[in-house]
Amino acid sequence: MKVLGIETTCDESGVSIVEDGYRILSNCVLSQVPLHERFGGVVPEIASRAHVEVITRLVERALNDADCWSDPSSPPDIDAIAVAHRPGLIGALLVGLTAAKSLSLAWGIPLVGVDHIHAHIYSAWMKSEEPFEPLPGLEEAFPAVSLVVSGGHTTLYRSDNWTTHQMLGTTQDDAVGEAFDKAAAILGLEYPGGPAISREADKGNRKAVRFPRTLLEPRSLDFSFSGIKTSVLYHVKGQDCRRDAPLLDGISIPDVAASFETAVVDVLLEKLRRALGREGLNRAILGGGVAANRYLRSRLEDMGKKEGVDVRFPDLALCTDNGAMIAGLGSKLFEGGTTHELTLDASSMASD
Ligand code: KG4
Ligand code: ZN
Repeated sequence: MKVLGIETTCDESGVSIVEDGYRILSNCVLSQVPLHERFGGVVPEIASRAHVEVITRLVERALNDADCWSDPSSPPDIDAIAVAHRPGLIGALLVGLTAAKSLSLAWGIPLVGVDHIHAHIYSAWMKSEEPFEPLPGLEEAFPAVSLVVSGGHTTLYRSDNWTTHQMLGTTQDDAVGEAFDKAAAILGLEYPGGPAISREADKGNRKAVRFPRTLLEPRSLDFSFSGIKTSVLYHVKGQDCRRDAPLLDGISIPDVAASFETAVVDVLLEKLRRALGREGLNRAILGGGVAANRYLRSRLEDMGKKEGVDVRFPDLALCTDNGAMIAGLGSKLFEGGTTHELTLDASSMASD
């Protein structure tokens, strides 16, 4: 069974063909970073326009790369068209959804709507490179606690199957990826800030600055990252400084980046630990762009070993937004009998 997946929730246009839910036959991703860079964040209108410009050619390329469209005058050799229809930037979502609906109608191929957050969780079971074997444990993955960490979300779920994810806690202000992006901007590093902070952090002293670990009430599973962002600002530019003030003399960017990354990861792991304890579970799934953070991955692996938790996270290449995770989860849904009408709506909100 081959499924085409379309992803346009934010600033990556992604189209992929996935066979049997895990074998990635093609995975075309076009990042819009160069378009948004100078604004220090994603500009929704620019994102939608950029998706419109590339989506048709990306679909064509993904089908050709996967060798499943030998005769362009007839429909390609695929069984379903999966599309991320929530949550995300509404204008951006509508581009992918409209493309998927049009192709579904023109080719007579079923449409499957996929929740982008659920797809980030599913991506932990996909391999980005050959040999594409199904990863062990796929069918016994649940119940688990999932932690989705991205530019728009920092949310803990109790996951009972691939599509039943009950929210346990979420951020009250900035998402964790957003905190990385803002901290990087304060330090004068490039956008997106996650990879830039991580590169600097590898050269720094993780204990150089004691940034706050905001854990909220003792049992809370919510997150707050605005305090640490302000602490970074005041530490590097002085108390009550202006955001565009220069860095104080003697500030070491690697030390600040390392101390910031450590504080953020401490908070994420403590909340995950709390959620596992409260739900009485020993399986954890990490997903989303920030799951590409090597320090987070290694700390999570250590936690798994020391505390007897089965931890899963996606291959590095599948952490940030891509069409393969949409096609992957779309395949699972389609296999279980899910299809959607052409009236399917886009929504900026997560399902829960
Ligand atoms: O999942 P994603 O591609 O888009 C959303 O759904 O939001 O996540 C993008 C976010 C950005 O904020 C980016 O800075 C962050 O993921 N990110 C990282 C790393 N790579 C990407 N954060 C920390 N460390 C990284 N290595
Ligand atoms: Zn995402």
